[in-house]
Amino acid sequence: MATVLITGGAGFIGSYVARELIKKGEQVVLYDAFIQYVSPLENNYCIHLKERFKGILDKVIIVRGDTRNKNELRRTILKYKPERIIHLAALPLADLADTHSEEALESILHGTVNILDILRDVGFVKRFVYTSSSMIYGDFMFHPADEEHPKNPKDIYGGTKLAGEILVQSYGRRYEIEYTIIRPSAVYGPTDVNRRVSQIFVENALRGEKLVLHNGGKSKLDFTYVKDVAQGFVLATYRPEAKNEIFNITRGEGRSLREYAEILQNLLPGVEIVEQPANVFRPERGALDISKARKLLGYEPQYSLEEGLREYVGYFKKLKNRKPEFRNSRLFRILNSES
Ligand SMILES: NC(=O)c1ccc[n+]([C@@H]2O[C@H](COP(=O)([O-])OP(=O)(O)OC[C@H]3O[C@@H](n4cnc5c(N)ncnc54)[C@H](O)[C@@H]3O)[C@@H](O)[C@H]2O)c1
Repeated sequence: MATVLITGGAGFIGSYVARELIKKGEQVVLYDAFIQYVSPLENNYCIHLKERFKGILDKVIIVRGDTRNKNELRRTILKYKPERIIHLAALPLADLADTHSEEALESILHGTVNILDILRDVGFVKRFVYTSSSMIYGDFMFHPADEEHPKNPKDIYGGTKLAGEILVQSYGRRYEIEYTIIRPSAVYGPTDVNRRVSQIFVENALRGEKLVLHNGGKSKLDFTYVKDVAQGFVLATYRPEAKNEIFNITRGEGRSLREYAEILQNLLPGVEIVEQPANVFRPERGALDISKARKLLGYEPQYSLEEGLREYVGYFKKLKNRKPEFRNSRLFRILNSES
């Protein structure tokens, strides 16, 4: 049994990675500051947090700690001596990073450098896994975008994540710290609370509210089911072939928001789709090329968008008695009569 420390391990993606590592028989330490990025009045954090750890709470060590506090982080790393560290803790929302650039820098960049500084001093960590993002590419110049695609981030979030990548590589070369960099994209699935479009659409559909498509909903994203992402993280954490490599870990398909909405319409008949002019600032993305991850890691995503959304909607249905704000909503009606 080896010890793996996951920063941000109590978060959406981190909790799925933790579950996979527990299945492998590893000792899992979660280092998390339990930060909420959207209004606590609407994110049902407690409910989803409980779901994240259903059945595994007694199998993980949870340390409440912030990566911005270096001493705390150092104490934890020295105490548990992890063989591998998966670094997910970061402000994860692009819009918020634009409006709160200092927070983004501290969270994404300083947090990362703090870990790297500690890794420089301790010799027992065999691999450091850094979580980047497809936002580092900016507007895609070709599809699917492979790892060599030009890096032209268009916002603070993408720029800061890319700066983190460069520092991970610099520390890696300078101090021989073995690393792997992962670039996920548009991760969706049960227990996300950050109100990205994927979550908003599912919740609105269940509430009987309209799904609003901006600019015709033509923009494509590589929607990736969270369980597939977790599989990719675990492979990247252990595979010798992943040493000092960078991987796109996504579904590998560009699907438009209109398609996303229409799949929900099929799952929940009666959902209305309306169109409005564009109001969000995002790079034009699409499919990422995952052939490198397939070849070197044996990574193979299992969930099409249709399958992932079926499971995601099913998750909300199971929560029916635990979401009082859904009373008198479409969800309430669906759960009590239609389903
Ligand atoms: N969800 C996506 O679509 C997506 C896509 C690309 C990259 N990512 C990256 O994946 C990582 C995880 O994202 P997520 O969707 O699971 O978000 P999340 O908000 O659910 O999880 C992040 C977790 O990190 C913790 N955290 C944040 N800052 C911290 C700090 N300074 N110290 C300790 N803990 C801290 C939070 O409390 C939270 O539990 C982030 O780095 C994010 O940028 C996410």
